[in-house]
Amino acid sequence: MSVETTDLLDVDDLTAAELETVLDRAAAIKAGEDDTDLSRRTLAMVFEKPSTRTRTSFETAMTRLGGHAIFLGPDDIHLGRGEPVKDTARALAGYADAIMARLFDHADAAELAAYADVPVVNGLTDDAHPCQTLADLLTIREAFGGFDDVTVAWIGDGNNVAQSFVLGAALADLECTVTTPPSYGVDAGVMDRAAELGTAPTVVDDPETAVADADVVYTDVWVSMGEEDVREEKLSAFEGYQVNADLLAGHDAKVMHCLPAHRGEEITDDVIESDRELIWQQAENRLHAQAGLLVELLD
Ligand code: CP
Ligand code: NVA
Repeated sequence: MSVETTDLLDVDDLTAAELETVLDRAAAIKAGEDDTDLSRRTLAMVFEKPSTRTRTSFETAMTRLGGHAIFLGPDDIHLGRGEPVKDTARALAGYADAIMARLFDHADAAELAAYADVPVVNGLTDDAHPCQTLADLLTIREAFGGFDDVTVAWIGDGNNVAQSFVLGAALADLECTVTTPPSYGVDAGVMDRAAELGTAPTVVDDPETAVADADVVYTDVWVSMGEEDVREEKLSAFEGYQVNADLLAGHDAKVMHCLPAHRGEEITDDVIESDRELIWQQAENRLHAQAGLLVELLD
C-alpha cells in the first residue's frame, strides 16, 4: 500500500499501515535496496527555529534522492517580517514540490498545509515533531526487531517530541509509560487521540516507576526552543526527572534522546556516552526515515 495523506502535521496523519509502509521504505533506502529518483523535485524548508538534524537530514535526503532542498531561515524570507503564512504557502507551492516547516505555532503549520497545494511536512512545532517519531520508531524496530514486548518509558517534558512519540507508539502498538512533572504532561487531547488509536500510554508518578519495566528510556530537553524566558522555572520543576546512572542502576534499558542534549540537565554525560545509548543511530535515522517519507509523498 502507499501513503494517501498529503501532509504530515503529526504522525497520526498516517494510518498504522501507512506508518509501517514509511518505515519499510526507510529501511529499504537505508539498506540500499530502493533507488527511487526524485530528480528535478524541490523541497522548500522553512525554519522559524534553529536546527542541526532536521535541516541537514532533509537536505541530505533530497540530495541523495536526486532532488534539491532550499533552506529558508527566519531572516531569508518575508515570513520573518510579517508576510502571512497563507501567502507564503501559496507562493512556495508555486515553485516547490513539497514544503517542510519548523514553526513555533502548530496552527501556522496547519494553515501552511491548508493553503499549499503540495505536501507539507511538520519539521517541529511547539506541539508536535512527527519526523522525529518516524526516526525513533525505525530505531526501536532495528534495535528490538519489532515493537512486540517492547516498553518505552518517556521521562521529562510532555511537549512536542513526547506528544508525537505517544501517538506513534499508539499507531505502532508499542507499550509506552510516561512520567512528567505536574503541569508538564502530555496534552489531554493527544492522550485521547492515542487512546482512539488503540494504546494510550500509562502515566506514572515518578521516573523510578517508569524505568522499572522499561526496555528503552527516552528523554528530551527541559527547556525547549522558545522557552528561554521560563528556564529557571522549568529547571526547578524538572528536578528529580534527570536520566542518570542512579536512575538506571539495576536496569538494562537502552537510552534514547532526540537531541540536542543538555548534559547535566535532563541527562548526564556518562549515560549518553554509555553502551546503553541508541542516540546516534536515532539521529542518523532522521535521514532514512525522512527519505522514506519523501518518496512516499512525492514518488
Ligand atoms: N531532534 C531534532 O529535531 O534536532 P534539531 O533541532 O537539530 O533539528
Ligand atoms: N522539545 C525540544 C525538541 C528539540 C528537537 C524543543 O522543542 O526545543
